[in-house]
Amino acid sequence: MASTLKSLISLHLVISIFTILARCQLLPVEDPNFSTDGQEIGMVSAVDIDSDGDLYVFHRTDRPWTDDTFLPNRNVLSAIGKVPISKDTIFIVDPNTGRKKSSFGNNFFNIPHGLKIDANDTIWTTDVGRHQVFRFPKGATQPDLVLGEKFVPGDDERHFCKPADVTFGRNGEFFVADGYCNSRILKFSRDGYLLFKWGVHLDNATSALNPYTLNTPHSLTYIEKEDLICVADREHSRALCYNGGYTNGLSLGSYNRTLVGVNETGKVFAIYYNKAANEIVTAGEISREPFLVNGQLIYPPRAFSYSLSGQKLSSWANITQVVAKAGPSLIHDLCTSKDGQDVFLGDIVQHKVFKYTRRPISVVG
Ligand SMILES: *[C@@H]1O[C@H](CO)[C@@H](O)[C@H](O)[C@H]1NC(C)=O
Ligand SMILES: *[C@@H]1O[C@H](CO)[C@@H](O)[C@H](O)[C@H]1NC(C)=O
Ligand SMILES: *[C@@H]1O[C@H](CO)[C@@H](O)[C@H](O)[C@H]1NC(C)=O
Ligand SMILES: *[C@@H]1O[C@H](CO)[C@@H](O)[C@H](O)[C@H]1NC(C)=O
Ligand SMILES: *[C@@H]1O[C@H](CO)[C@@H](O)[C@H](O)[C@H]1NC(C)=O
Ligand SMILES: *[C@@H]1O[C@H](CO)[C@@H](O)[C@H](O)[C@H]1NC(C)=O
Repeated sequence: MASTLKSLISLHLVISIFTILARCQLLPVEDPNFSTDGQEIGMVSAVDIDSDGDLYVFHRTDRPWTDDTFLPNRNVLSAIGKVPISKDTIFIVDPNTGRKKSSFGNNFFNIPHGLKIDANDTIWTTDVGRHQVFRFPKGATQPDLVLGEKFVPGDDERHFCKPADVTFGRNGEFFVADGYCNSRILKFSRDGYLLFKWGVHLDNATSALNPYTLNTPHSLTYIEKEDLICVADREHSRALCYNGGYTNGLSLGSYNRTLVGVNETGKVFAIYYNKAANEIVTAGEISREPFLVNGQLIYPPRAFSYSLSGQKLSSWANITQVVAKAGPSLIHDLCTSKDGQDVFLGDIVQHKVFKYTRRPISVVG
């Protein structure tokens, strides 16, 4: 009985593999020409691309977020944590080679977290130590809009608590995922006035079943064609979408669909709408769906493409690395290239960015 069950399970796994392989003709492979190594990059917290296709890497240089960064059991920075990072935290990188072209953001950030670039190439960042959200016009090294009070956590209209990410709606409006403590989503006017909010923090046995009780909304993306604002609810290990309220104002913030079900791919750290390929890419911490390679059970790669309806389409990985348990350790954020054929994975443990591509490539050697 047990062995019949076992062979049935293996058969199922083998079939799953072939289904995955058949679905994506071109398995993504790591781009051998891209490397961010040797450039003093610290914990990578966020990545995004601008309209030229250049890659922005937001990282913590020589200042990791450690147990000493905040006062014990508080959301307030310690004396050490309050010293801003002296080195450049934002690197603008060639998307083909991984080499730095320029950089900025020194003596300003305490704990870099989210970075997003809007349609006008304006750069938006969040800092979980300062509890603030910043807007930098293209080319500027100082922000022209600052939201939240420096170092002061809170949950009212003028304060955030470890805000995690930003994304953009229409008409210059934007959304903030706030964050590690409050677990709410806030919508702002282009000038930074709060327009709407939803979601409360809850962590108990049933909180992952309710779409309005969140536990660390960590990453946001907006899908204009379906007017959906999608959220990686990290500690609940799921990703959900809410109505953006542009096609129907009354529906703003109401639950629309689940993209990644609870525990489907482990904690969901990042979610990104790959517009060029009309798919959603997510990064999970671990996977509960092992598959079989050469008779071995393998935990699959940690970034996945989904259709807008939540059907898993493919996974992004170098299978050799997966077999060797190599590749990314913990993908904190991701983005895709302009043409949607590459994915950039920001690894917070290995302090680097991985690039996987669906293009046919010639591997030298
Ligand atoms: C996959 O990763 C292995 C180990 O890092 C590397 O040697 C190999 O070149 C990679 N293969 C591809 C196709 O990227
Ligand atoms: C870009 O700038 C234009 C002109 O100022 C403005 O109308 C538009 O809303 C801006 N887009 C974003 C995403 O902010
Ligand atoms: C979770 O917390 C909510 C709000 O406090 C409460 O209504 C609910 O009963 C709790 N569920 C469990 C299983 O404890
Ligand atoms: C979900 O979003 C789609 C696309 O915008 C919309 O047509 C549909 O009415 C929404 N459903 C719910 C339940 O809000
Ligand atoms: C998800 O996984 C966690 C940790 O193993 C477990 O406590 C929880 O019950 C699971 N939730 C569901 C809905 O499977
Ligand atoms: C990597 O570089 C080699 C040698 O210049 C080139 O032949 C190959 O096409 C490049 N691969 C990619 C993915 O750009």
